[in-house]
Order: sequence, then C-alpha cells, then structure tokens
Amino acid sequence: MCGIVGYSGVKNAVRVLLEGLSALEYRGYDSAGVSVFSDGGLKTVKAAGRLAVVAEQLSAHPLPGCCGIGHTRWATHGEPSDANAHPHGTARVSLVHNGIIENYAELKTELSAKGYSFETQTDTEVAAKLLDSCYRGDPIAAIREACAQMEGSYAFGILFADRPGEVYGTRLNSPLLAAVGQGEGFLASDISAVLQYTKQYYTLEHGEIVKISPDGAISVCTMDGAPVQKELLTAQWDVEQAQKNGYEHFMRKEIFEQPTALYNTVHPRIIKGLPDFTHDGIAPGFFKNITRIQMVACGTASYAGFIGKNVIEKLARVPAEVDIASEFRYRDPILDPTQLVVVISQSGETADTLAALRLAKKQGVKTLAIVNVAGSTIAREADIVLYTYAGPEIAVASTKAYSVQTGVLYLLAIRIAMEKGRIDEGQAAGYVAGLLKAIEMTNDALKTDEKTKELASILKNIEDLFFIGRGADFPLCREGSLKLKEISYIHSEAYEAGELKHGTISLITDGVPVIAIATQTSLLPKTISNIKETRARGAQIILICKQSDEIGDDVYDHIIRLPDLDDLFAPILGVIPLQLMAYHTAVARGCDVDKPRNLAKSVTVE
Ligand code: G6P
Repeated sequence: MCGIVGYSGVKNAVRVLLEGLSALEYRGYDSAGVSVFSDGGLKTVKAAGRLAVVAEQLSAHPLPGCCGIGHTRWATHGEPSDANAHPHGTARVSLVHNGIIENYAELKTELSAKGYSFETQTDTEVAAKLLDSCYRGDPIAAIREACAQMEGSYAFGILFADRPGEVYGTRLNSPLLAAVGQGEGFLASDISAVLQYTKQYYTLEHGEIVKISPDGAISVCTMDGAPVQKELLTAQWDVEQAQKNGYEHFMRKEIFEQPTALYNTVHPRIIKGLPDFTHDGIAPGFFKNITRIQMVACGTASYAGFIGKNVIEKLARVPAEVDIASEFRYRDPILDPTQLVVVISQSGETADTLAALRLAKKQGVKTLAIVNVAGSTIAREADIVLYTYAGPEIAVASTKAYSVQTGVLYLLAIRIAMEKGRIDEGQAAGYVAGLLKAIEMTNDALKTDEKTKELASILKNIEDLFFIGRGADFPLCREGSLKLKEISYIHSEAYEAGELKHGTISLITDGVPVIAIATQTSLLPKTISNIKETRARGAQIILICKQSDEIGDDVYDHIIRLPDLDDLFAPILGVIPLQLMAYHTAVARGCDVDKPRNLAKSVTVE
C-alpha cells in the first residue's frame, strides 16, 4: 500500500530511489514520483502509470543530486493521475505518504482559510500543506505540530527545501524503517528496497521521527525531540531471494519455491519427531487450557486459516473459528482469556489484521501471530510470533506465504492435540511424519505444471466459472477462485459442492467450466454426486483428485491427478495445481501476472 524510499549519501539519488521503488512496486504501482535536491533546488518529477514512466522522464531529463525521496502509489484518495501522484508539497516542503489522513477534509478547510489552495484530490496534499503551515525553520517542531493535527495512518518521507541533504521521516500505523549504509542512509517502507546496499536497519516506532543527514548519519527522536537509542537490526533476506533468478515471473518462482519454504518453516519446529515451539517462546503446556482458537486474517491468509480450522478441530477437538479482520474488528467479538487469538499475515502490516490483534490484546486475550516479515508491526506487537520462512514474497498474488502458513497451522494442530491429551506422542509423531511426507510430495504436485498449462488454453477464453468442493477442499476452492480472479480477471465463484443446487446451479449452462476439487477421498462419493448434478446441466468438469481414486469417465472432461496422500494432508498438495492454473491462464490472457490491476500486496489502510 504505497512504497516510500528516501536517500542521502554519495550516490546518484535518482538511481537509488528508482531501484528501491522498483523493489517496492508490489505495494502499489498506479503512479510514482521522486523529489531530489538538484542544481541548488528541490525538483520533483512524477507521473501516472508504472514506475517506468517516471524513469523514462528522468532519463530524458536527469536530476543530478545525492539526496531525495520517492514514492510508488496505490490510490486511496483521488484517481491515479500525474497531479495526484506523490511527492506533494510547496516551495518549502516535499512529502511522500503511505496511509490515509482521515480528517483531511477538515484540515483542508482550515488551510484554505489560511490561504492555501489545492490542486489535487489527495489527502497527502493536505498533509504536505499542513506541514508547510507549521514550518518555521525547525523540521522536528513542524513535524510534531502537523502530526498532532492529523488523524488516521501515515508513514511520511519529507524534504525541507532549506535543508539540502536531509531526509526526515515519521510514522503512525504504517511501516517505515531507516537503513544504515557506509556514509549513506536510507528510508524505506520495507528492507527489500535497499537490500542491495545494506542489511542493517532500524525500525521506527509510532510517533518517532528520523533524520538522515548528508553524511548518512541517522538520528531518531520522539515527537518531543528526545533522542531515542535504537537497536540495529540485520535483515535475514538476501538480495538474490528478491530477484527472479531466471523465472519469467515472481509468482512462478514463488510457486516452485514452496517445497523449500515449507521445509524451512516446519522442520526447525520438529524436535525428536514432535512439534516443538520452545524456540519460538512457547513453553510446553501452553495450549493445555486453551478453550477456543480464534483466527483472524485477510485475503489468502484467511484461507490458510480455514485449512488450519479443519485440522485443529479434527485433531485437537478444540473449536476454531476464522474471521475476516475487517469484520472482526467492528463486530464486538466475544472473547475471553481462555481463548487464543491467532492472527495470520504474510506482511505483518495489514491494517485490519493489526487492528484485530490490538483489539484482542486490549481485551486481555493471548495473541499469537503467524508472520513472514521479521520485525513487522504485527510481529512486534503480538504476544507470541511464529515466523514463517518463505523468504520475500514479491508477486502480489500470494502462493508460498499461504503454504507456509498452512504448514505452521498443521504443526500447531498436532501440538494442541497432544497437549489436550487427544493424541499420544506416538500418534503425534505419526502426524508429523505425515506432514513431512506431504511437504516432500509438493515436488510431485508441481509436476501438474504441464497439464494446468494445457487447461489454461481452455480457461483463457472463459469469463465465468465455478469451483466446488467439500470439507477441506472448500477453502481450496476459495483460494483457487481468488487466485484466478486476482491475476487473470476471470470471474469465478467458490461453492460448497452440496450447496450449489440451492440457487447458483441456475447459472450452469452448456460448457460452463466447473473446477471440482476432490482431494478428500472420504467425501468423494458425495462430491461426485454434486459434480454429476452440474454435468447433467452441461457443465464442463475439470476434476482435481488423487492418483488412485477410482472415478468413472462419465464424471469429468479433464482430470488432474495428485499424488496419493492421507485426506488430512491432501490440501497441502491440492492448492498447487490451482496456483499453476491461475498463473498459466493469466499468462495466456496476457495479464501482468505479478502486478495485477488495482491490487497491492501490503494493505496498510482499512
Ligand atoms: C492483500 C494481498 C493478498 C493477501 C492479503 C493479506 O489483499 O493482495 O495477497 O493475502 O492482502 O495480506 P497479509 O500480508 O496480511 O497476509
């Protein structure tokens, strides 16, 4: 949700900013811009469209200089246009923003009364002009005064025209960090923006202000100007991990990284053949008295939650619910201290998931976060963090992050079942072995690549289709449908296989594709009946099932066979052909797979 980069040092600032923004484009990519101290003044270049548009303008009219700020935008207030692109500012300040200023309309009225005029529809222009109105030569005082009047969420990168070489930043509920180089300093929404220069960084807490000086020195203070000693952190990710490494798209690379990502996430938490979270700070016996698991997440992470619900309830017989974070936070949820709230988030920055976490903490409920990005806000605020080790996920459509989330949830389910006395250690070890086998078999599931590519040549011409499945296959349907919609723009609906006839079967006519997911052998006869109901009305069936399940030729038009695996673990494999099918279909339709229209990977607004 908007990417911010800032730089002060010795290198060409435009080059550093553009490289950083290119790594952050996953956060938004409808417009971009930079401001740089160049030729004795503050110069801004910005434009609607991808970063390449601004890069072209800057290559035609270079802006020499070693200090600047840059932004890649995901529009909230005002359409993507040249004018609405960031940076915004006046002759005295230039500012980039990630977040939403909720009281911008009132502030705009007040500033208009003071003589300011506005050329854009953005809340950010209001923030910039508010800052200008507060600036009397002391940057920290101006930032403090302006922030005190703003409500909402923000991370700002700021330049003051009379302070060449200095970059300022502050944040409230939107991510921002300051990274330390040799004689140079960086500001970034996330470390991937500057990994090629440094792995050392400071995270900024809410209400802290950072200043980067022309020599790269970084100082942090509170809003009151009191200096803050920060802990220097080291990023665990390498720059190579954030590159395509010969793959055509990040999404494809990330799909194929799933076996490794799952292994890296699950294996360190198996000790003597049993799930063990002591290294994550969870003492043995922690789950013994937990009465209910409340999971909260958004998007794909919520579908990982539904897979987790199924396994937790099956193995541990502990009620487990999944809520969409934006609903949970406003529905006055019933919580008590015997429950465990589990928030699931790849980025660890999703605004609604963060709010849900805070709500649970406020009500005195224990919180556990499953997060991929180290040091993210959710990871810092949760009582317990279980990191997933997927490495950086760059494609907007989540694949490997989803898989590793499910991997952690399987392990948790086995551990909870053990501590609840539902299974003994021998049984737990058997389930762990089953999980490890499933992870190994994801390599075989990836062999569905060719078949899914063939099917994409059919799907690419379709505008509507259905996914159906029962039990654990239903969350797979929802995830498969989401993937396809997100990146290929084909409309689809996910239905519980038995529910289709209660209405939506009226949309099944000759040739309408129905993707039936049937990895649950125990439910197969029921699913087949539902498939036949649709086939009788002309549906074209693409069936995904296990290798050895016996299925008559009259059930399907196309079939994808997955390796045989126990029903409990089969969903770990089942998602893979769905990801590949969405991928190949999007490619066949000429879509921008890694940067689908209107979407952003990290959603830091509610
Ligand atoms: C956005 C992304 C999805 C992601 C969701 C939750 O909508 O496009 O891919 O699943 O946010 O993100 P999180 O970082 O919290 O997992």
